[in-house]
Amino acid sequence: MSRVTKAVIPAAGLGTRFLPATKAQPKEMLPLVDKPAIQYVVEEAVRAGIDDILIISGRGKRSLEDHFDRNVELEHFLAERGKDEALAEVRSIAELAEIHFVRQGEPLGLGHAVSIARKHVGDNPFVVMLGDDIMDERSTVLTDMIRVHDERDAAVIAVSEVSSDEISNYGSIDPEIISDQLVRLRGIVEKPSANDAPSNLAAMGRYVFTPEIFDALDRVSPGVGGEIQLTDGIALLLADHDVFGWVFSHGRFDIGNKQDYLRATVELAIEREDLGPEFRAFLIDLVDKRLR
Ligand code: G1P
Repeated sequence: MSRVTKAVIPAAGLGTRFLPATKAQPKEMLPLVDKPAIQYVVEEAVRAGIDDILIISGRGKRSLEDHFDRNVELEHFLAERGKDEALAEVRSIAELAEIHFVRQGEPLGLGHAVSIARKHVGDNPFVVMLGDDIMDERSTVLTDMIRVHDERDAAVIAVSEVSSDEISNYGSIDPEIISDQLVRLRGIVEKPSANDAPSNLAAMGRYVFTPEIFDALDRVSPGVGGEIQLTDGIALLLADHDVFGWVFSHGRFDIGNKQDYLRATVELAIEREDLGPEFRAFLIDLVDKRLR
C-alpha cells in the first residue's frame, strides 16, 4: 500500500455566498487575518506529510496560481529594502509543496471536480480537502485520518456532530460505531432534511480516498442541486468497499458563509501571538462599550 502524499483541493466554485467580494476574486483568496483561506488548507496538508497538491481551479482563479508561485519582482523589492522577514515569508509560500493546477471547465459539482484529479492521482491514495473548512494549526484530524487509512486500507471521511438545524447543510452519515472516534459508514446522504437525516454526524470537508472513488464517481448521476455530488460517489463506493468516519469535535472553522467567516476571522486573530493580545483587548472594550 502506498503512502498518502497527494492532496486534491477543489477550488472551482463561483463563491456565490460571498458576493460581491467574489465577483472578480476567488473566494479561496479571501483573507483570514493576513493569509488567503487556501493557504491554511495547503499548510494543513503539508503538516500531514503531503508534498503534492492538485488544485482544481476554474475561470477567474488565476490569482491562486500567482499566490503559490515566486514573485521575483516583489522579492527583489523586499530584498533591496532589507525587509527580510516579509521576504522570507513571501518566498516560503512558493516552497510549501509541489502545487499543480487543472481547471474544471464547467461547474458540474464537487464530485465532478474530484473526478478531474484521476490522471494526476493515478493508482495512489489521496486526500480531498474542501476550502470552506479550515482547521486549527494544532488539529491532527488529517494525520489521524491518514493513519486510519493506512491501518484499514480504506476510505476515511472526517465527521462531526452538528445540530438538527444544521444537518441539511452537510452530507449526513449512517454510522456503525466502532470506537470513540471511529465509525463505519452504512450510508451517506447529501443535504437531507432534518427528518430524513440518518444521523447528526456531518461530513466535514476532509476525505482520504483510494482510487476506487473514481469509478464510483463515473457512475453518479446529478443529485442535489443538479450537481454530481461527492457524497453520492461515496454512497456508491459503500456497496463494495468499507468507508470509515473519523469523528472529531474541535478545531474546525467554517468559512462557507459570511456569518461563519466573520467568526473564524475573529477566532483566528485572537489565537495569533503577534496580533492576538491587542485584538483581544479591543474586543473586550468593544463588548463593554458598544455591545452590552
Ligand atoms: C460540501 C459537501 C458536503 C459536506 C460539506 C462540508 O457541501 O457536498 O457533503 O458536508 O461540503 O463543508 P458544500 O458546503 O460545498 O455545499
